[in-house]
Amino acid sequence: MTPSSMQHGNVRGRIFSGVQPTGNLHLGNYLGAIRNWVQLQDSFESIYCVVDLHAITVAQDPDQLRQSTREVAASLIAAGISPERAIVFNQSRVAQHSQLAWIFSCVARLGWLNRMTQFKEKAGKNRENARVGLYSYPILMAADILAYRATHVPVGEDQKQHLELTRDIAQSFNQAYEVDFFPLPEPQILGSATRVMSLRDGSAKMSKSDASDNSRINLTDDRDQIAQKIRKAKTDPDALPSEAAGLEDRPEAKNLVGIYAALADSTVDAVLAEFGGRGFGDFKPALADLSVETLSPMGEKMRDLLENPDHIDNILDVGAARAEAIAAPIIDEVNEIVGFLGRRS
Ligand code: TRP
Repeated sequence: MTPSSMQHGNVRGRIFSGVQPTGNLHLGNYLGAIRNWVQLQDSFESIYCVVDLHAITVAQDPDQLRQSTREVAASLIAAGISPERAIVFNQSRVAQHSQLAWIFSCVARLGWLNRMTQFKEKAGKNRENARVGLYSYPILMAADILAYRATHVPVGEDQKQHLELTRDIAQSFNQAYEVDFFPLPEPQILGSATRVMSLRDGSAKMSKSDASDNSRINLTDDRDQIAQKIRKAKTDPDALPSEAAGLEDRPEAKNLVGIYAALADSTVDAVLAEFGGRGFGDFKPALADLSVETLSPMGEKMRDLLENPDHIDNILDVGAARAEAIAAPIIDEVNEIVGFLGRRS
């Protein structure tokens, strides 16, 4: 164990994860990632970062970026992440991320980046016009994680390839400099995560960019909006099956039952044991009640927090100082390993 992780009792390792400062966080973000972060903060030393440096790999309006950064921080706290137990901050405040990213861009190879499927998707056809930062995005992500020598990284399936690259970079650095300095961080593919689909189309992921607001439950929606969106959700005419296998060709039914199970901290089988044989006329009101009960307090807390931006900014400020206190000595050591002449005394 590193000295800094030993300071925490019963800690199994150090977690780092990042979330993009995009507005309009929704139920899919909550059940897919944030809720797991809340659980992990009890068993790991946890560092949660709003990745504003990553955000500018695509065009951003500066005021909107500031506001989205606050919004995402507020949602993490409203969801139950404790800014005392965990560290919550925005990436640009800790200069070590950018510093290490440069060093790593001198470790990683073009061929490694060329394999990244997310870049290919995001750059689209006009690759010549893609920003260099979009291309080197995974290098910054490796720097995020390794600036803290984090051992575990909770990520969704779509970030697995980036984490593989992080491990390659760590290993390659260790080899090149003949040190055993960086750990090879383990992905924590979120086992209990729920893939939440659009309420209007069970075959599309719930998304902030869907033109229809009825396709998603935003974390800031109030009780009425939540209930109404569930009532309007697309379904099929059949009754619910009594076993999970019966949901296979029914994407909308599968989605709603999955949401119910996740919000009730239950399983699909248990939900179907209760609702099997009953129609959506019974199931939807139950799901609406459960959704309102579990989600609306979070929305209220988020709205409260956002009414007082100074308070959020202060939380992020404290988080950044704590993050830097961990990252600075690590990057000092990296500079030494690489052969940079350091500050005197
Ligand atoms: N790329 C991640 C995403 O889009 C966000 C991210 C940035 C991240 N840095 C990270 C996730 C470090 C885990 C660890 O979801």
